[in-house]
Amino acid sequence: MAKQPGRPRGAAQLGARQLALTALERVLHGAYLAPTLSSLLDAAELEGPERALATDLAYGVVRRLPQLDAALAPLLTAPRKLPPRVLGALRLGAFELNHRGTPAYAAVSAWVGLVKREAPKLAGLVNAVLRRVRPLPDDAPRAVRAALPAWLLGAFDRALGEERAFEAALGMLEPEPLWLTALSEAAVEALTADGAEVAPLFPDQPARLASLRVRAGAPLDSLAAYRRGLVQPQNPSSLEAARLLGAGPDDTVYDLASGRGVKSAVLAASGAEVTAFELDARRSQAAAQNLRRLGLEVEHRQADLRALPEAPPVSHVILDAPCSGTGTLRGHPEIKLRVTQAQVDELAALQRVMLRNAARLVAPGGVLVYAVCSLTREEGAEVVADLLEERPDFRPEPVDTRLPSVPPANGGVGRYLLPLGGLDGFYLARLRRRPLPE
Ligand SMILES: C[S@@+](CC[C@H](N)C(=O)[O-])C[C@H]1O[C@@H](n2cnc3c(N)ncnc32)[C@H](O)[C@@H]1O
Repeated sequence: MAKQPGRPRGAAQLGARQLALTALERVLHGAYLAPTLSSLLDAAELEGPERALATDLAYGVVRRLPQLDAALAPLLTAPRKLPPRVLGALRLGAFELNHRGTPAYAAVSAWVGLVKREAPKLAGLVNAVLRRVRPLPDDAPRAVRAALPAWLLGAFDRALGEERAFEAALGMLEPEPLWLTALSEAAVEALTADGAEVAPLFPDQPARLASLRVRAGAPLDSLAAYRRGLVQPQNPSSLEAARLLGAGPDDTVYDLASGRGVKSAVLAASGAEVTAFELDARRSQAAAQNLRRLGLEVEHRQADLRALPEAPPVSHVILDAPCSGTGTLRGHPEIKLRVTQAQVDELAALQRVMLRNAARLVAPGGVLVYAVCSLTREEGAEVVADLLEERPDFRPEPVDTRLPSVPPANGGVGRYLLPLGGLDGFYLARLRRRPLPE
């Protein structure tokens, strides 16, 4: 975006901070962070580095909110009585000082300057608090250090074990890299020709269907590799769910709860014949549009998978079920401010029904993959354990993966992929239906 002529750099940085503050305010009123930030960024006249600053601040403050509130608490008598934008400025200032390494004079003067314009009487308080705020002490409560509500850290503990749960929580405080799945061997060359830095996650893997970590200086949809359909934005953990199905040329796949069709796309790119079932027609339309960009074909069927769709059983079925998204807190940090145990339980009940129907669509000898981007036991290992009890004709197969992962703590089938190194957290299980007797 073009910079305004003669606009001083300091003013633009104030713009980035103001924008992050507005994004925080809207998220705390119930908005989703990604679309909120993206519409604010599109409307603002900020250049690349300022867009990056606004993004980093907005995501950082939401990811670390529990830590920031704990760091500010000893310095404020009644934080909730402050005007919301002043409290937001303190939280963002504390994020810059404690976690972003902004020099103290720059962070304090920027946030004090902003508050002076919006609530001049409180500028002195903001100045005094930001000069005194310090990182959390090592003996702060574990859930605060993990920047999670205590119940959610407890849920991660039950799924992953305490040590891995804490690591997972910290992993999701780090920034989100851009991950692209290469759908063509020409992808890397096209990306580098556009000036992007590209690093395959596993350099020894074939170039096609590899996860690429990409630093692009330009928006994704302006890159030739994207426009020519050579790449699909996708976290490697999501790719791993599709890969686990093991479907190849001429296999027939049902992609259940196919959403915007990211897994359908990579399955179709593997040569499989894919039928995608999804409740939300708008998501299926978005999937169809994306598949046109990629030059791939998938049949779409609108279906509520709480009931069994009329469709013959096939050899490969994947259910990527609706879930709490607690493995994606890096990219969707607002989830942790809202999700409740009651919602997790409700989702688990829905997942059980959907998995039961998914199993009925698997032909004898066929494979069923169950995936959720959540790190709770309720939505993962427990859902699959119930299915296996109901359907003794299914048995678990190993989840072979090179991604960091653990088996469910306290037993159970499948594996939890850990949200480390820019990956999303997932639960994956692979089940095979007994073949018919000869
Ligand atoms: C985790 S998302 C799927 C993401 C998708 N597999 C992908 O990789 O792009 C879960 C999907 O389940 C869909 N869904 C929710 N309830 C459903 C239902 N009762 N029947 C079918 N689909 C449902 C949601 O609309 C959402 O698109």
